[in-house]
Amino acid sequence: RRTTVLRREAVVAAVPVALAALLTAAGPATAAGTVGSAGAGDPYFPLSGNGGYDVRHYGLTLGYDPHDRHLDGKAVITARATQRLTRFDLDLSGLKVTGVTVDHAKAAFRRDGRELVVTPQKALRKGQEFRVTVTYSGTPKPVTDPDGSSDGWIPTDDGAFVAGEPQGAMTWFPANSHPTDKASYDFTLTVPKGRTAVANGVLLGQRTANGRTTFRWRQSEPMAAYLATATVGTFKVEQYTTRDGLKIYNAVDPREAAAAAPVIGKLPSVLAWESKLFGPYPFKAAGAIVDRAPQVGYALETQTRPVYDSAPDLDTLVHESAHQWFGDSVTVTRWKDIWLNEGFATYAEWLYAEQHGGRSAQKAFDALYATPAGKDLWAFPPGDPGSGEHIFETPVYARGAMVLHKLRTAVGDPVFFRILRSWAGGHRDGHGTTAQFVRLAERESGKDLTALFHTWLFTAGKPASS
Ligand code: ARG
Ligand code: ZN
Repeated sequence: RRTTVLRREAVVAAVPVALAALLTAAGPATAAGTVGSAGAGDPYFPLSGNGGYDVRHYGLTLGYDPHDRHLDGKAVITARATQRLTRFDLDLSGLKVTGVTVDHAKAAFRRDGRELVVTPQKALRKGQEFRVTVTYSGTPKPVTDPDGSSDGWIPTDDGAFVAGEPQGAMTWFPANSHPTDKASYDFTLTVPKGRTAVANGVLLGQRTANGRTTFRWRQSEPMAAYLATATVGTFKVEQYTTRDGLKIYNAVDPREAAAAAPVIGKLPSVLAWESKLFGPYPFKAAGAIVDRAPQVGYALETQTRPVYDSAPDLDTLVHESAHQWFGDSVTVTRWKDIWLNEGFATYAEWLYAEQHGGRSAQKAFDALYATPAGKDLWAFPPGDPGSGEHIFETPVYARGAMVLHKLRTAVGDPVFFRILRSWAGGHRDGHGTTAQFVRLAERESGKDLTALFHTWLFTAGKPASS
């Protein structure tokens, strides 16, 4: 969710669709064997992710020094080949790779833009499980997104704000960086004593020796690479277990602590409220990272533990918390479907207000519908943002929420909330597409909702009637 207004000078040209189509093709078969493709086939981000294998687990061992901004990394990636592979890619932006092994044997590698191309000594069989180890180091730099914002490893005055949506995971670890490939993660993060390194999931332990502290984190439920974090800073840490057995770990920048405390204190009750609406909270751990970083301009729903670039307001906390169900547990398979994340998280804000003495969702809808045709809200339909440049814009968030409100009024509250729970429950730890959501809504309601979705989700411009 945006925390400041985006500056939009540095807009990068979108990748032409023809190139996207080229990159989506499966790796070409050659006499020597088969190579994995350089992209996962997403037209909005053609080079994000890779073809030919599926990652099971990332073991990331990182050392970071905020003074000289130097990162030392070792990634141990366990994957399974989905085709015969004589060669495959990982995504990696910047940094220097010093060695790659595949199943403990030295592998050849080269860099090609943001692709790390690996050639193992022996071809991998289709279905084979294998282990890639990449050692690397350097000064990580964020990537600039098509909308001019930055994501990835974003240095701060006391560490780094680490948030990778949509493509920044590759700025700090070699990854199959597309939401289609979810995996479990172990993080071993070493920083100077006095700094804290916060990742996803459960803190397994921390140890200080020789002026450095190592934090070990485990994210056991599947996670998309863009939702990984390893945020480093000077933080006030708070740890407790809720009555439902949920492990909470909050890390708050002391400069934001006073403003953040009342909102962060509501996290357990917000998650409990969302669990009633959306079904059981999908993870073992939860929390918040509040890291003053005005250069970022947004918060991100990093799995189990969202990152906020300043003390969040309650709406933002509700929004990022709702993403734990919609986005993190149920993940999009292509960026075009981003309204399944942002429309849902925005609608959660409307529902929260409605059920906590604020404005009704109907009032929120009406206020938006009063927006004159021609304004940004109606610039494109939420189900079809057009390119990666538009995935975080108002039509995705606000009109995305309007779609859900239209659905709710068409099917009635009991069916609507059953649809939300069935979506979260049926796709838990997995993926979902817009087409699957539409089918589910029709199945649960027994109604033909073609016209509703056609008008509100897919038709450009302001719909003629509310
Ligand atoms: N998913 C985030 C949210 O709305 C927004 C991330 C924006 N990312 C970016 N690179 N601008 O909660
Ligand atoms: Zn969001």
